[in-house]
Amino acid sequence: TISEENKVIHDYNNLILSLPRENGCDTQYFYFYHGFWCPSTLIQSVNSFQNNFHAKDSDIVVASMPKSGTTWLKGLAYAIVNRQHFTSLENNHPLLSFNPHELVPHFEVSGNNTDGQMPQIDVPNMVEPRLYGTHMPFPSLPKSIQESNCKIIYICRNPFDTFVSYWTFINKLRLKKSLTELTLEESFERYCKGICFFGPFWDNMLGYLKESIERPDRVLFLKYEDLKEDVNFHTKRIAEFVGFPFTEEEENNGVIENIIKLCSFESMKESSENKSGTAALKIEREFFFRKGEIGDWVNYLSPSMIKKLSKVMEEKLSGSSLSF
Ligand code: A3P
Repeated sequence: TISEENKVIHDYNNLILSLPRENGCDTQYFYFYHGFWCPSTLIQSVNSFQNNFHAKDSDIVVASMPKSGTTWLKGLAYAIVNRQHFTSLENNHPLLSFNPHELVPHFEVSGNNTDGQMPQIDVPNMVEPRLYGTHMPFPSLPKSIQESNCKIIYICRNPFDTFVSYWTFINKLRLKKSLTELTLEESFERYCKGICFFGPFWDNMLGYLKESIERPDRVLFLKYEDLKEDVNFHTKRIAEFVGFPFTEEEENNGVIENIIKLCSFESMKESSENKSGTAALKIEREFFFRKGEIGDWVNYLSPSMIKKLSKVMEEKLSGSSLSF
């Protein structure tokens, strides 16, 4: 008889071997699992999240494609929801001592957990409203989230900028592991085929867009570019959506501006906490802050690449109301 643990390993191996696979972004392959691409090391935690997670109606979920502004949105959501606990936003605020990924955990990327439990975090006993993140596409989320009344704030970003952010980020991770850089061309070809963490990007975006149209009370669909253009407006919108609207008094006292400042790229990048150490998945905190600009892709992509990704976007997104 094989032990329980061996059985899990055996079952996962069978599952993994049955999945479509492509070269990944480090030494691991990417597998197409439940409608998205991810490395084998995540399959177990994804599976555990899908099968064991119990959503609460009060939950607030920050959903995104990687490199679309997740860190920023997590910071804003955390500051909005918890503002009554912190009288001063400038002193002693957790966002000054922790990276947003440490305050707003991602359950499906929590590493190798073999016991089916969410590691480190006492999930059922997290203070309500529980605030957590996900990169999984909407149809792949645990049924319990899909069927609950929890609030989902989704952020996406122009695929050109997202790709450049992704490629530079991946290479920082590779460098840390003493791996050679992935070429821009190679990564770009895969990205255009949808092969990247939690991609294809079009499925990820369109799934949440559809849900936000059908159930606007459930899913708030945001774009990085819109937040950049008018962060004040969107901060108020997020606060209303999650059920923590700003009072007139708060507005008059500059609470919104303080939150925006606390979560701004400049203050987050410059905070000493984010300049060293690691956040979730042992990723260097500083890797989450690069330029924080719109349009930096012009410095990287060739005319033929621009043409190619434009065509992919046209093909995949033109039937929707989504444009960049
Ligand atoms: P760039 O690589 O283009 O600079 P994610 O948080 O989903 O991993 O996305 C990372 C991208 O968001 C990076 O983009 C990063 O610099 C940018 N970013 C991080 N924090 C930000 C903030 N507070 N405001 C604006 N952009 C931010």
